[in-house]
Amino acid sequence: MKILITGGCGFVGSNLAIYFKKNLISSKIDSLDNLSRNGALLNFQRLRKNKIKNFKIDISNNTAVQSLPRYDLVIDCCAEAAVEASKREVDRVFNTNLLGTFNILKKCTKDKSNLIFLSSSRVYSIKQLYKSKKNKSLINEKFDTLEPKSIYGFCKHSSEQLIKEFSFLYKIKYIITRFGLIAGPWQFGKQDQGVVSLWIWKHMNKQKLSYIGFGGKGSQIRDVIHISDVCKLIALQIKKINSIYNFTMNAGGGKKNAISLKDLTKICQKVTSNRIKISSKKSTSEYDIPYYVTDNSKVKKIYKWDPQKKILHIIQDMYKWMLSNKKKLKKYIK
Ligand SMILES: NC(=O)c1ccc[n+]([C@@H]2O[C@H](COP(=O)([O-])OP(=O)(O)OC[C@H]3O[C@@H](n4cnc5c(N)ncnc54)[C@H](O)[C@@H]3O)[C@@H](O)[C@H]2O)c1
Repeated sequence: MKILITGGCGFVGSNLAIYFKKNLISSKIDSLDNLSRNGALLNFQRLRKNKIKNFKIDISNNTAVQSLPRYDLVIDCCAEAAVEASKREVDRVFNTNLLGTFNILKKCTKDKSNLIFLSSSRVYSIKQLYKSKKNKSLINEKFDTLEPKSIYGFCKHSSEQLIKEFSFLYKIKYIITRFGLIAGPWQFGKQDQGVVSLWIWKHMNKQKLSYIGFGGKGSQIRDVIHISDVCKLIALQIKKINSIYNFTMNAGGGKKNAISLKDLTKICQKVTSNRIKISSKKSTSEYDIPYYVTDNSKVKKIYKWDPQKKILHIIQDMYKWMLSNKKKLKKYIK
């Protein structure tokens, strides 16, 4: 099977590419990535070491996308992944995150390829998520997607709708997974994306952090899933794509891996043996959410899959990776 991973030099894409290279022996894996993300170059070098080719093109350039070889399957991991960027750089986010999906769909139509799309928990309404924090309910696929959710969330949700239109008309088989917060080695965290990575790195290097928003005390809650659990799920999705297709599902760390930022600090202190100064800012962006915890019932039922790695293990694993790559990561985690 020939597989194209878009965003293949990103955190998720590069981990998937290398996992599949090692575990789907009969497959050929290529990547599409313009290397725009800070740190993508390091992942590009990892791909090269594993003999995975990267096409350095912009996904919003339709001519370039259509000129790529034919693939049986496209795994679309290409996006500007920071929600806040969709406020600052709306054109770039729109072009990458929505026009990019459109171009990939035209390519899939031409080549009769299947599509696995990485969507996001951010397709859900911000206002309704505020209400969910009060009763600590788990978020399932029926949760509201109609009210505002950020331009990032809008692009993800619109991409999902486009995929369904193309599938209806051109019989493309697709799987859409709305992931919660993903963490693991080769994630280059920054202030507005990759919070677990950033938190461990700042503790390890004894640098300052801030609790931003929701009273400034670190009360916001997210569930965290390890990248290896994501790789295992997508491997199952690939294996079964001819019998299980045209589904949209949530996947995330779930209730057992839900953690507040305050408690993340405690685990980082324990794992790194360092304590750092954490300042406090009361207000936050309109796009920020106080709570998201995944209801995995649907994905569990379909694939008999369950995330295995617990939060402490995730943090220990990332810390180990950071320790052994400290020098080269300095430029990339900020
Ligand atoms: N990381 C998470 O917690 C998370 C959670 C839910 C969903 N997702 C989704 O999973 C996918 C992968 O996320 P990630 O964390 O690996 O992000 P990432 O930023 O690490 O990877 C995205 C890659 O896309 C590339 N890229 C960006 N714009 C491009 C363009 N115009 N043309 C070509 N390449 C371009 C970047 O260089 C980068 O390597 C994204 O679709 C993201 O929205 C991620």
